[in-house]
Amino acid sequence: MTVRHLRTLEDLTSDELAALLDRADVLAAERGRHGRPLRGRSVAILLEKASTRTRLSFEVGAHELGALPVTLLARDTQLGRGEPLEDTARMLSGYVHAVVYRTFGHDRIETLCAHATIPVINGLSDRYHPCQLLADLQTIRAEKGRLAGLRVAWVGDGNNMAHSWILAAARAGLRLRLATPEGYAPDPSVLARGRELGADVSVGHDPQWAVENADVVTTDVWASMGQEDEARRRAEAFAAFQVDTALMKAAASEAIFLHCLPAHRGEEVAAEVIDGPWSRVWQEAANRLHAQKALLEFLMS
Ligand code: CP
Ligand code: NVA
Repeated sequence: MTVRHLRTLEDLTSDELAALLDRADVLAAERGRHGRPLRGRSVAILLEKASTRTRLSFEVGAHELGALPVTLLARDTQLGRGEPLEDTARMLSGYVHAVVYRTFGHDRIETLCAHATIPVINGLSDRYHPCQLLADLQTIRAEKGRLAGLRVAWVGDGNNMAHSWILAAARAGLRLRLATPEGYAPDPSVLARGRELGADVSVGHDPQWAVENADVVTTDVWASMGQEDEARRRAEAFAAFQVDTALMKAAASEAIFLHCLPAHRGEEVAAEVIDGPWSRVWQEAANRLHAQKALLEFLMS
């Protein structure tokens, strides 16, 4: 039997994605009452970067499905002392039934997949954050009743989240506009791949253009994990890219605001937006649990 992974949203077909979101809704509605389909199984959560939501959603999610979650902070493991990732993959495959991996270079996700015989879930790499998008899509669908044809505006860095939105646009039929500062556009190869998969996506440098008629406005931190040294330079480059009240008012009248969190009020988002009537960030964060449960069930059953 072939082992399925979630490296990027490309690993799910559009139909699988829709079914997974349906299941996430059911698991949310039946929380505390649904069965424990993963009883007797175990999931490793291997973290090379900080995490709050990803760790919590997989730990609590695995527990609620009957599985044992085991979190490994890489710096406290032999991996952190130089044990090869390939050997770690082989070893993990003998203990647990899936592994969630948060790392830096996306090539490390691929290496784990190449040497593991269990499903590998990308819990964030420098290039993609597919688990976050599952929750984001679930949140949008609950709010708007559909995904196909909706207009999404990305304002900010062309980073792992922006890349994931590009693939989400392909898989869910979203119409995506990304506005980034010059020099911070998404990787052209991700853009090309998204378009090859059918994504309706355009890229520019004007936040006003991006949010025109947008149903969803979203952003992310200006300096991601691993980019702390660039924070000052980025703050200057991104100064005109804050999602503030004026920008939200330029979007569609019923527009909602999403952010994967953690957020920096007064940088990428104004407090009045993230704490105001447009914001759905707490539903979005809570949906990580339901979406990750649906994903564990899909890959491990
Ligand atoms: N959004 C997200 O992945 O949050 P954490 O970094 O807290 O896991
Ligand atoms: N782009 C951010 C997302 C954090 C969830 C980062 O990579 O740090």
